[in-house]
Amino acid sequence: MDMKIVVLTGAGISAESGLGTFRDSDGLWERFKIEEVATPEAWAKNPKLVLEFYNERRRQCLKAKPNSAHNALVELEKHFEVSIVTQNIDDLHERAGSKNVLHLHGEILKAKTSELSTEYYDIKSDIKLGDKGTDGKQLRPHVVWFGEAVPMLDKAIELTTQADVFIVIGTSLNVYPAASLLHYTSEKCITYIVDKEKNNALPASYKHLKANATVGVKKLVEELIKRK
Ligand code: APR
Repeated sequence: MDMKIVVLTGAGISAESGLGTFRDSDGLWERFKIEEVATPEAWAKNPKLVLEFYNERRRQCLKAKPNSAHNALVELEKHFEVSIVTQNIDDLHERAGSKNVLHLHGEILKAKTSELSTEYYDIKSDIKLGDKGTDGKQLRPHVVWFGEAVPMLDKAIELTTQADVFIVIGTSLNVYPAASLLHYTSEKCITYIVDKEKNNALPASYKHLKANATVGVKKLVEELIKRK
């Protein structure tokens, strides 16, 4: 029976693909206020600003390419049963070739017309005011804003409870409920984190590979495959 590996990724895995993180020194939340671009209240108050914020991120996502950390996870999938739980809204895991990707915070290349609608529209261009769904309502990015529900959480928890190995990559673990996944690993689960910084939010039991994701993930994957 193949070992089950669950990988929780954050903005740090896409940083070396040129996509900004949120809380690093030059992070997105240094330049934009969360309450102005990433909450339902912001959407109600100034939908144009919110659309522009995510249009810019969609353009950057389309220009970016998967990096060797994304690619290393595809290699891992050839040897183990790998489920990726990502907080990222980019599609770099999918473009690298990963098969089981669960987006906790939505997907920038999809649009919808309300928080809980499950009719998604593939979108690669800007969303403009006046772009509507089949229900006649304004299109918005399929992104989970602060204060909104995280529909994929239960599935992510179920995967985490069954993991033999749990790997955290490039996330500050600042945002809940995503960060709560750490509490669902079983006693026997082996845990790693790949991050360029030390993260004190993590239990000491996590083996920390202090490196850029492109180096650390590749190294960890090689180690796991060698020990198979
Ligand atoms: N290699 C490895 N780790 C990196 C790299 C890199 N090149 N660059 C940054 N990191 C690490 C940082 O040290 C930090 O721990 O990635 C993490 C980035 O943290 P955040 O910017 O907070 O991103 P993330 O944890 O994904 O944010 C979670 O917050 O704003 C919301 O919905 C948004 O999904 C996002 C959530």
